Amino acid sequence: MPASLLGRLFGLCATRTSPRAANDGYNAGFVENRPVEFVTIPLLALHLLAMNIASAGPLVGAWLGRRERAGSGVNQRLGLRLIQRSMAGLAVGALSGGVILMLPHEGMRAALSRFPSDAYWYAGAELVFSAACMAGALWLMRGDRPAGGAAIGLATVTATNLLYHFPPLMAVLGELAADSNWSTAETIDRQTLLELWKRPEIIFLWAHFAVASFAVAAIAAVWPTSALAADAEGEAELDKSIRRLGVVGLSATIVQLPIGVCLLATDSAAARDAMLGQNLLASLAFAASLLTAFALMQALGAMAWGEGPRAVRRTGWLLIAVVVLMAATLRTSRDAKTRGGDVASPPRDGNSIHLNAGQAT
Ligand code: HEM
Repeated sequence: MPASLLGRLFGLCATRTSPRAANDGYNAGFVENRPVEFVTIPLLALHLLAMNIASAGPLVGAWLGRRERAGSGVNQRLGLRLIQRSMAGLAVGALSGGVILMLPHEGMRAALSRFPSDAYWYAGAELVFSAACMAGALWLMRGDRPAGGAAIGLATVTATNLLYHFPPLMAVLGELAADSNWSTAETIDRQTLLELWKRPEIIFLWAHFAVASFAVAAIAAVWPTSALAADAEGEAELDKSIRRLGVVGLSATIVQLPIGVCLLATDSAAARDAMLGQNLLASLAFAASLLTAFALMQALGAMAWGEGPRAVRRTGWLLIAVVVLMAATLRTSRDAKTRGGDVASPPRDGNSIHLNAGQAT
């Protein structure tokens, strides 16, 4: 793809503005841009769900494929289907992310223009590499072959590659788009990016996404359950797999509780206040997301307890509801942040990075 087209796609053609100027433009745009926000929230939810499956799906798929000894073939089919879904997830995630980038968000364009163009080439190469690893794992598990060391190795490489590079990069992008003074570095080069990745709000969002990926992949492996088990032996095997995947999903969701508290504690004061009562939309979305997350835990418990396909159906719909509500919380609380708190704090002069915890590079 020619560089100019790539640049246009990622907003690199946006005029280079100083962080301060970009922020001023974005604040006005973000607040006035409510209709765009209502499109962005479901798109972001789709993006997150798709990338969750793409990230942990190959690993969970290979684990399922490895469990297939002389069985009915159910685990093998579940594993293969999940790796296929992971590849589809990567494509849908890239597409929905691309559409979000093209929406008229001035702050996002300004944030994108602060990354050097080779960052986009590296990101593209990482995506192609991960897709190739998934295709390799799929090929190694074709037919009735159980997942061996090579397939599990490829699944591990693609999962770690995606989970290491993208969530912190995206979190930095999201923070800069909402508040350009979040970092005063004009150019976010590799060194600056690695420094920004150490900030607590990025680390906890990163952990939140990584752990969520395992819960989402476990549910995506069995939802919907139709046409998986043909005979009685297959039914029994499927029930066992549903129970195991319920345990994986429930464990991951329980681990999210302390991570979620840390995420809330390390967010900006304005965003936190917005979620805790100062902004109606953010507070409603946050409260609803927590209630739905508890219902999801209950449904995952029912899966783990052996309730079978009925519990899986409930879990699938609740998962979608949780992700949409969390995406709404993220966007509406950032909206409040740009209107109130962080923007008021002046950036430091020069190219140093403005750190919440009082550190600077
Ligand atoms: C072509 C590739 C991709 C594009 C174009 C893309 C684009 C985007 C965009 C525009 C956002 C919204 C930022 C915001 O306003 O808050 C976003 C958020 C996010 N993306 Fe991606 N993305 C891509 C790949 C990935 C991958 C591979 C992962 C994970 C493995 C990922 C994980 C995330 C996460 C965790 C967020 C939420 C970050 C936040 O807002 O704090 N993305 N992405």
